[in-house]
Amino acid sequence: PDEISVGELASRMKKTGAEVVKCLMKNGVMASLSQIIDFDTAAIIAEEMGCKVEKEVVVTIEEKLIDDHKDEDKDLVPRAPVVVVMGHVDHGKTSLLDYIRNAHVASGEAGGITQHIGAYQVQINGKPITFLDTPGHEAFTSMRARGAMVTDIAILVVAAEDGIMPQTVESINHAKAAGIPIIVAINKMDKPEANPERIKQQLTEYGLVCEEWGGDTIVCPISAKTGMGVDNLLEMLTLTAEVGELKANPNRAAQGTVIEARLDKGRGPVATLLVQNGTLKQGDIIIAGTAVGRVRAMVGDKGQKLTSAGPSVPVEITGLSETPSAGATFNAVADEKLARELVEQRKEEARAKANAPVTKVSLEDLFSQI
Ligand code: GTP
Ligand code: MG
Repeated sequence: PDEISVGELASRMKKTGAEVVKCLMKNGVMASLSQIIDFDTAAIIAEEMGCKVEKEVVVTIEEKLIDDHKDEDKDLVPRAPVVVVMGHVDHGKTSLLDYIRNAHVASGEAGGITQHIGAYQVQINGKPITFLDTPGHEAFTSMRARGAMVTDIAILVVAAEDGIMPQTVESINHAKAAGIPIIVAINKMDKPEANPERIKQQLTEYGLVCEEWGGDTIVCPISAKTGMGVDNLLEMLTLTAEVGELKANPNRAAQGTVIEARLDKGRGPVATLLVQNGTLKQGDIIIAGTAVGRVRAMVGDKGQKLTSAGPSVPVEITGLSETPSAGATFNAVADEKLARELVEQRKEEARAKANAPVTKVSLEDLFSQI
């Protein structure tokens, strides 16, 4: 709506393309018929050619359906930080979260290779923190990337006797790409072969210089097994979160990200959602990619039934028409009919994309590959 091609402008003004191109040139703009010009340029040209342009107001279904107005400061209240725990396989991410959850809530699951993202909210000194556990296995790059994208802070777990490994580096890169602060937890300090100094040294190669060496990276030696140093880590985490002044507006339609989703034989599509703004309520109509439906059942991270979930709260819900893609944005919406229309439109677009002709490979490309 804020731009138009030269050709389109010409035809709407009932002028020839050449006339418009000439007029543009006179105004110092070199543009061909297919080129796109902005509204202001079009307005000047049109006026010179005796026409008037008006902005066309195109309201898409998406705009009609999804309320994405910017929150005003007065509507914002503090929210829990969302923290992703990342690192190489077996370095102790799940053990650390188990320790934190056991020390501060009920019992949790034991280790073993993590294959999905776990989401938990824990009260630390009366303040909630949301944790996402991610797998360290190399096959799960996209889960780590997704985890980093929706969080405020990363805890990088590095085993003290093992050091920086490929997925440690990968995790650092995800956190950097997401622009979130990294707190390093050097884990397994209870092991006799633990060598934290070596790890601090290795970290500097990735731009993470610990505070005692003049850098600004918080490095906490811990043991997820004995609990040594975990309280200090949590304190550092709380301090880092406070600097971020994280806020959200609980009084609006829920918006967030699909963390994980699967098809359950009995319950149908089950999705783990992280509410990032607004409040999700049981019975809400939600749309996530091409999935739509009413939130039928909603449970919290301890299996407790919930009727509503505010910002930074992870929930598992059922009621969607299909299994949404992990990483998709979800929105609670008011109009179910319109939501279904939007889903149809999105499906149509996906089909069109899938059927689009494949770009031809030139001989040159072929030769350059040999
Ligand atoms: P993935 O999710 O598969 O990447 O692994 P993870 O990082 O979650 O590691 P997990 O917590 O499953 O721990 C791997 C192994 O290390 C388990 O056998 C744990 O008992 C052990 N472990 C974790 N933390 C510590 C620790 O602080 N000290 C010792 N000695 N062992 C630990
Ligand atoms: Mg794990």
